[in-house]
Amino acid sequence: MKVTTATFIGAATEPGRFPAPSHPEVAFAGRSNVGKSSAINRIVGRRGLARTSSTPGRTQQLNFFGIDDRLVLVDLPGFGYAKVSKTAREAWRPLVESYLGARGVLAGVVLIVDVRRGLEEEEHQLLDFLATIGVPVLVLATKIDKLKRGEQTKALRAIAASALPVVPFSAVTGDGVAMVWKTIAEWTRGRTARAAGAPARRAR
Ligand code: GTP
Ligand code: MG
Repeated sequence: MKVTTATFIGAATEPGRFPAPSHPEVAFAGRSNVGKSSAINRIVGRRGLARTSSTPGRTQQLNFFGIDDRLVLVDLPGFGYAKVSKTAREAWRPLVESYLGARGVLAGVVLIVDVRRGLEEEEHQLLDFLATIGVPVLVLATKIDKLKRGEQTKALRAIAASALPVVPFSAVTGDGVAMVWKTIAEWTRGRTARAAGAPARRAR
């Protein structure tokens, strides 16, 4: 999918204090330093849109990016990084869950996992939470460029064994980008932006 304009809408650092919803949103989640911001940049085709860094724990807020006046991509703060301050670690769950659990325009979540690491405790917890609130998920196994072909197959099989569809991805080569757009198109088809203040999705 070709993106003409991509703009930074705003950031949120406190639960409940998010930009007014305007279009369907797709959020990118995953552990710290896994490559969430890089994935967004690659998918959108803009190198410096979301800030990336080799220092883990770089994004500690939710960043909202508007795509062509039709879609909003949300870069979520990463979880699981031991070295960020205790305050930052404790702030993660209420901040992220207050967004995921009450955002009427949320169309789906892209969960990014390092293909070499797979799904661990935190990823399973997040998947359980998303299943409870009924939000569709796509698992992206990123950094596949770091593995040889044979190793890729083995690693992807191990992740898929957790019963989820997994898309191999690389922000370096662009592998998987088309599948992400296809999934976003499915999630957002027929969805019109809900007005601010519309009732939040209810837990099942
Ligand atoms: P936080 O915001 O700190 O949670 O990190 P993040 O998940 O946004 O990760 P970010 O996109 O900043 O990338 C972290 C590091 O991984 C950077 O050094 C990236 O260049 C590198 N990286 C991200 N994606 C890929 C990939 O697909 N392949 C390779 N080889 N490196 C990647
Ligand atoms: Mg980031």
